[in-house]
Amino acid sequence: MSRRLFVTTALPYANGSFHIGHIMEYIQADTWVRFQRMQGHAVHFVCADDAHGAPIMLKAEAEGIAPQALVARIAAERPRYLEGFHISFDHWHSTDSPENVELSQDIYRRLQAAGLVYTRAVEQFYDPVKGMFLADRYIKGECPNCGAPDQYGDACENCSSVYAPTDLKNPYSTLSGATPVLKSSEHFFFRLSDPKCVAFLRTWTRGERLQPEVANKAREWLEGTGDRALGDWDISRDAPYFGIPIPDAPGKYFYVWLDAPIGYLAALKNYFDTGKARARGETRAFAEFLSAPDTEQVHFIGKDIIYFHTLFWPAMLKFAGSPYRVPDNVYVHGFITVSGEKMSKSRGTGISPLRYLELGLDAEWLRYYIAAKLNANVEDVDFNPDDFVARVNADLVGKYVNIAARTAGFVVKRFDGRLRAAGAGLAPFQAARERIAQLYEGREFGKALREVMLLADAANQYVDARRPWDLAKDPARAADLHEVCSEALNMFRLLTIYLKPVLPQLAADVESFLGVPALGWHDAGTLLPAGHAINPYRHLMTRVDPKQVQALFETEAAPPAAPAPQKHAEHQERAAAKAAPAPQAATISIDDFAKLDLRVATIVAADTVEGADKLVRLTVDLGGATRTLFAGIKSAYDPAQLAGRQVVVVANLAPRKMRFGTSEGMILAASGDGPGIFLVAPDSGAEPGMRVK
Ligand code: 2FM
Ligand code: ZN
Repeated sequence: MSRRLFVTTALPYANGSFHIGHIMEYIQADTWVRFQRMQGHAVHFVCADDAHGAPIMLKAEAEGIAPQALVARIAAERPRYLEGFHISFDHWHSTDSPENVELSQDIYRRLQAAGLVYTRAVEQFYDPVKGMFLADRYIKGECPNCGAPDQYGDACENCSSVYAPTDLKNPYSTLSGATPVLKSSEHFFFRLSDPKCVAFLRTWTRGERLQPEVANKAREWLEGTGDRALGDWDISRDAPYFGIPIPDAPGKYFYVWLDAPIGYLAALKNYFDTGKARARGETRAFAEFLSAPDTEQVHFIGKDIIYFHTLFWPAMLKFAGSPYRVPDNVYVHGFITVSGEKMSKSRGTGISPLRYLELGLDAEWLRYYIAAKLNANVEDVDFNPDDFVARVNADLVGKYVNIAARTAGFVVKRFDGRLRAAGAGLAPFQAARERIAQLYEGREFGKALREVMLLADAANQYVDARRPWDLAKDPARAADLHEVCSEALNMFRLLTIYLKPVLPQLAADVESFLGVPALGWHDAGTLLPAGHAINPYRHLMTRVDPKQVQALFETEAAPPAAPAPQKHAEHQERAAAKAAPAPQAATISIDDFAKLDLRVATIVAADTVEGADKLVRLTVDLGGATRTLFAGIKSAYDPAQLAGRQVVVVANLAPRKMRFGTSEGMILAASGDGPGIFLVAPDSGAEPGMRVK
């Protein structure tokens, strides 16, 4: 029976670009969704920007723009990434939308009617200069335990003690520097501790819908006692706040985490109301679809937001009542680490997904690598550059693509592109269909791909054993040659079906090479018939060049001048005490020096670079010829002041491809351990193009 699936990924905050953690989640969900679609199931896969909250409000304020403008700017970047990595969302919306206002206020009213909302005065730090209440992350002060300065309002980084922001000594607001004052305000609470809520969540967290480790976590929170007892949830924030107004409560807004998951439904509603669901063959209206017993609601999320998705969210939905429904599944993944290093939620990791695409790395290499490392558990996935190169080259190029590369040419040249009927050798390849399907269904992608690669090994062994290149030399053995190649290409077709959820673009290329319509999972039950014509083989996938992967890890811009090797203040002090010069680089010959082509240049234009905090794009005149280069000098120079200045350029430096364009040289500047970058300029009278020797 065909399933009706409503699938989401966590809504990303709209104050920053995607980082590799987002892309990993999308690859996981997209692979699962594509697998379901190949089964013939109807999937509605939606996401949205998580637009509300104080950080977005403050960031927009700092930029001097409206929060809506910030959200719009970030939203405009999204398609590049999503298309680039072949993420097949059916719809992308925003939590800052009329649908979300309507649904959030409706759910709130229903919870209120169910007796699950109450108000209580809360005393909290308030910034009298900014005129706003301060979340813990905006308060710093001295640790009440060890006295360390500049500690955050919740815990000390020096002695690890945990406390309330009101315990800090000499607290200050990180927004204005003002001393916060305690102020009382009425807050709205969702009564999560209500016995009917607790009873419901006890049942809901049992059974198959959650991974065992996630269910355990949820139950731990649910059954907590004493200090760890399940608390009620503060769902309101005071103005100024970028959020959805609470009905009948002037100056009060929903806390962003209340309206964020409701944004899943708002995105779905907008997708229905704009006719997109209908265009996908869904004839019911939003509410009818949502509440239907055969609809499945599935959320993919990361392990850091389990609490919201396994306690608040199902409880809100349950007690809001029909047409709302509790999630059928919440699938949790771990984090992505890079060479074992943890990533920061705001800064991401060393891998920028945009740089990955701009460097021309194939999106499907990453899809394959991540899928091959994913399983159904909440485990972190490590991106290891060497392993990435080895895995992709060995599996995709060395095993899979190789099957077609070794056999297709003979069919085209010798048999007019037509295949023979394939035979018994295909049975194990077809028999794997159910097993691999179950692995995809259970999000055991690593295991699924291992099965596929074992089959690819078998296909290559078959070709090795039958040696088509030898058969081709003997006209008497044409029938054997035809047989081997037809068998191998049928194997290749079946493997393509099994890889298609992970490699949609490659599969599409294979479909056109094989001359077949879009492959579904059921197609694994058939073989290409005798006489079927294929097209000439064209290269399907290139090998990963380790240099490309290395470029991925290079920093945005080389420092303008080689920094002195000492790094720490302590070091510097010791060096100063002994009056020792900074360690010097190894001696070079005059010939080495002569290899450097240093030229006087005039800056003719200088611009900021969107998305790069440190970079300035410079157009320089080298005495006739102009060049574009990127320099990491924005912290020290206002681009508007640079035009007309003379600088010294390394003119014969190999061009460097960067995220924002190619840098055709480098300007010289001095810098030390402390802040400050100082451009090197020739004395007056020097002309652009003059050599510096
Ligand atoms: O943690 C986050 O990035 C949140 N923006 C996720 C929200 S998921 C859902 F609730 F909207
Ligand atoms: Zn401390």
